[in-house]
Amino acid sequence: MKLDRILPFARILLEKAISPGDIAIDATVGNGHDTLYLTKLVGEQGHVYGFDIQEQAIEQTKKRLIENQADQQVTLFLKSHDQLTAVLPESSKGKVTAAIFNLGYLPGGDKEIVTEANSTISAIEQLLEIMATEGIIVLVVYHGHPEGAVEKDELMKYVTNLPQDRAHVLHYGFMNQVNAPPFIIAIEKR
Ligand SMILES: C[S@@+](CC[C@H](N)C(=O)[O-])C[C@H]1O[C@@H](n2cnc3c(N)ncnc32)[C@H](O)[C@@H]1O
Repeated sequence: MKLDRILPFARILLEKAISPGDIAIDATVGNGHDTLYLTKLVGEQGHVYGFDIQEQAIEQTKKRLIENQADQQVTLFLKSHDQLTAVLPESSKGKVTAAIFNLGYLPGGDKEIVTEANSTISAIEQLLEIMATEGIIVLVVYHGHPEGAVEKDELMKYVTNLPQDRAHVLHYGFMNQVNAPPFIIAIEKR
């Protein structure tokens, strides 16, 4: 298939947004795959801030970063991403060029612990305040589980109504796949 699948396309967007030395955010670190990828994009001079509400996710991510000698470039918070503005250092504000949200539950973890529209939208609002102009927020939306379907509906309502002079909003997904395939919403701050 020549068309970019969902996860590779998410990475293409992150690559576009991030230059060495930048600050990036992994809003849902999970098993740490995206966190590690972000460290490669920001490089040794940059920094990644990661959030998750599960200790298991933070520990798993820490382990992955240490194994790859990338832990010096990352600060992890065992906190909800809607605490973003409160915990990010003042010096990072205006320098964040990308953020990724991989929504849903932790693969291999407790499927009852899922992202929810209220905190996801609150975090997006905070990011739109503190990000650099042309910073990109990538949301990978999984909506095959019941709470995911609710979160998707709320998110679609929210992003569709974002004023055009505030952000560009992109919707990328395969329209004829079965079983509620994940899709991407990307928001570029103007
Ligand atoms: C789909 S997983 C992320 C997968 C991850 N990107 C990876 O590479 O493995 C979603 C994660 O979001 C976390 N989560 C749920 N609600 C959250 C919140 N309010 N703030 C931060 N993380 C949250 C879950 O604990 C779970 O680990």
